[in-house]
This record gives sequence, C-alpha cells and structure tokens, in this order.
Amino acid sequence: MRGTGLVRTFDHPEGPIHVLRGADLAVEPGELVTVSGRSGSGKSALFAILCGFDTPDAGGVELNGTPLTSPPTWRDCAVLPQAMGLAQELTLAENVALPLRLTGTRDPDVQSLLDSLGIGALADRYPPEVSFGQQQRAALARALSVQPRVLLADEPTAHLDHGSVPAVLALLRRAAQDGAAVLVATHHDEVHAIADRGLVLTDGVLHPG
Ligand SMILES: Nc1ncnc2c1ncn2[C@@H]1O[C@H](COP(=O)(O)OP(=O)(O)OP(=O)(O)O)[C@@H](O)[C@H]1O
Ligand SMILES: [Mg+2]
Repeated sequence: MRGTGLVRTFDHPEGPIHVLRGADLAVEPGELVTVSGRSGSGKSALFAILCGFDTPDAGGVELNGTPLTSPPTWRDCAVLPQAMGLAQELTLAENVALPLRLTGTRDPDVQSLLDSLGIGALADRYPPEVSFGQQQRAALARALSVQPRVLLADEPTAHLDHGSVPAVLALLRRAAQDGAAVLVATHHDEVHAIADRGLVLTDGVLHPG
C-alpha cells in the first residue's frame, strides 16, 4: 500500500484545518508499520483516506499495485476503525462472519478466531452487552476474518487491559507473517515493540520514527 503526497484540509468555522500537508508512506506485504503522533495529528484522517472512506484533496493511494479510485473490497483492505463500527443488531460472531458472507467466502472458523482473542464465550452476545475492549477485539477478528491483503488498525489496544494485549499483538504480527501489509495507529509502546518500523505524523507529514 502506498500513499503519495496526501493533502487533506477540513473546513471549520474558525478557519481551515490543514490535517495532511503532503504525507507519503509505503507499507509492503509482510510488513507491520506503526503510525504515532499526538491526538488530533491526523492518524484517523489518514486511515480514512487509505481505505477509501475519504478522498484526499491532493495526492493518491495505491492499493496492491492499483490506484484507489473507489472504496476497495474488504479483502483488499480491511479496517479496524477507532470507533470499532460493529453492527449493533448482530452478535459478535455474526459481526465477524459478515465480511465473509458479503464476499461469498466459505465460513472460516469464527469461533476459533474469537477464542484466540479470549472472547469466545461472548460469541452470541450483542455489542452493547460487552465491554469496549471486548468489542475492539471482535472488530479486529472481523477485520482479520477475510485474511486481507492490507490491514489498517486504528488504535487496536486503546480499550484493552494489559492481559488482553498480547493476543491482539500476536494476531497483528501473524497477519503480517501471512503476507498482509499491516498499518497500526497507536500510542502504545508494546505495539511499537512488535513493529518492523514506525512512522510519526507531525504537522501533516510522516517521518521515520
Ligand atoms: N470529517 C472531519 N471534519 C472536520 N474536521 C475533521 C474531520 N476529521 C478529522 N477532523 C479534524 O482533523 C484533525 C485530525 O483528527 P484525527 O481524528 O485524524 O486525529 P488522530 O491523530 O486520529 O487523533 P487521536 O489520537 O485522538 O485518535 C482534528 O483536528 C479533527 O478535529
Ligand atoms: Mg484517531
């Protein structure tokens, strides 16, 4: 995945917010890269552009060797959004199985994915019936269910207790080992520790960390 010269400005009554001012990045298949930067620096705005939820004012995104002109399939780019975005009317297991149903893929072992994240016993519960940390792990399972070629995880450990972090890190690492290009926005040192390299978003531009 590659982003080149990404520019994004948001209108605001107090004046325009110049969030991205020419950000460049490239994440190769098999690589796990972190993005850090202070709150409000634009990490989530960058991710929205990389996965086609938002369009840059200038610059472009290349996904799996093809310029991104419309929202990609979940298999080409799966996302763990910061706000998680689980369907509230579906159980955790149904949420995880959803991308597979939409892509017509054979059912994976949803239960073992949930088990590996320590939330297997909650498979039949609905998102409002579980904690934020448990929802976050379900949203990661959903993103991983299709074995995506690119995985964008926006603060995947933000709501987790320390005991739950290793399982999440192991799955992120395994996704990269299986060949995915993995980009993780995070403030947490444990995540940086398992990354191949880190980037820092400052003043709308990405620098090596
Ligand atoms: N859709 C939008 N409309 C207007 N302003 C926006 C929009 N999205 C983001 N912003 C602004 O862009 C800036 C960057 O926000 P963003 O959510 O990307 O930060 P972040 O680095 O992800 O922060 P955090 O670490 O708290 O998650 C903020 O000032 C935010 O208010
Ligand atoms: Mg954010």
